[in-house]
Amino acid sequence: MTDPRHRVISGKALDEDARIEASVRPASFGDYIGQDRVKENLQIAVEAARARGEALDHVLLYGPPGLGKTTLAQILASEMGSSIKISSGPLLEKKGDLTAVLTSLDPRDFLFLDEIHRLQPALEEILYPAMEDFRVDLIIGQGPGARVHPYQLNQFTLIGATTRAGLIMAPLRSRFGIVHRLDFYTPDDLEKIVTRSARILGITIDKDGSGEIARRSRGTPRVANRLLRRVRDYAEVRAKGHVTLGVARDALKMLGVDEHGLDETDRNLLLTIIQKYSGGPVGLNTIAASLSEEEDAIEEIYEPYLMQLGLLDRTQRGRVATALAYKHFGMEEPRRQPGLFS
Ligand code: ADE
Repeated sequence: MTDPRHRVISGKALDEDARIEASVRPASFGDYIGQDRVKENLQIAVEAARARGEALDHVLLYGPPGLGKTTLAQILASEMGSSIKISSGPLLEKKGDLTAVLTSLDPRDFLFLDEIHRLQPALEEILYPAMEDFRVDLIIGQGPGARVHPYQLNQFTLIGATTRAGLIMAPLRSRFGIVHRLDFYTPDDLEKIVTRSARILGITIDKDGSGEIARRSRGTPRVANRLLRRVRDYAEVRAKGHVTLGVARDALKMLGVDEHGLDETDRNLLLTIIQKYSGGPVGLNTIAASLSEEEDAIEEIYEPYLMQLGLLDRTQRGRVATALAYKHFGMEEPRRQPGLFS
């Protein structure tokens, strides 16, 4: 099985990324490239909250992995002059874990909960009064003698992040005053990000080299920064450390990343649908079994970009390879019976 965390084009964070990301991660809105609409909305919310001397409204950020949800959360806290605590749905196991974090927050502090869709229902229940009234109910004692003590929290801002907005239930979603979807970045913005990261990391790269990496980064800064480092390795060994268009192309070819940013697994996914299932529709579970991949990884990492490129459709009856996918592989699309799928 290909662990998606080992794919050079995965949006999921790898350990190596965490270290480098920290050094290239923008620390203020001024340094943050792209997502202009989201950024502008957040800047206004921050300015207004600061002027009122209040905590920022709770924020829900959703979208594919690697687009900068954590980065935005850190920028928001920093621009509000506040501290941020970072945790995630799967990390918080017991009610006490969440209560402990909530009661430790100072006024106007931020709590970032990544993968909030994976928070256990019992913990989600704790969030409702915490978000709405800044209150948690502490249970003191055990068994029949246990007592509930309402505890007043400091005003804080919850930033929830998720790759799966559809899995956030209405009661939780409705408690976020600010909700934004992060979109894939344009090649222009990614080129600026690659240029900026290269400057910080001391990599010599020309504009065409940055552009090439940007175009093959599947709209995702985390992927762009990762490819930049792999291309740098290649350049150091084969090209005296200087990244030109040719060097970038050769390096990316060697990494198996094609001109659209697709790698082996993306190609296998599409070819499986085309060759084994006549182009689809075919169910996600069938594709996952066929590829020995996790359904979640397929839905969160692989499919969003393939759909964005117009190579894959999700229909009610399953996944379908589009006419463009056939073209991508230089294949003839079979004539489909009308009404067979829609
Ligand atoms: N590095 C990763 N994401 C970035 C962004 N949006 N702007 C600047 N640098 C980044």
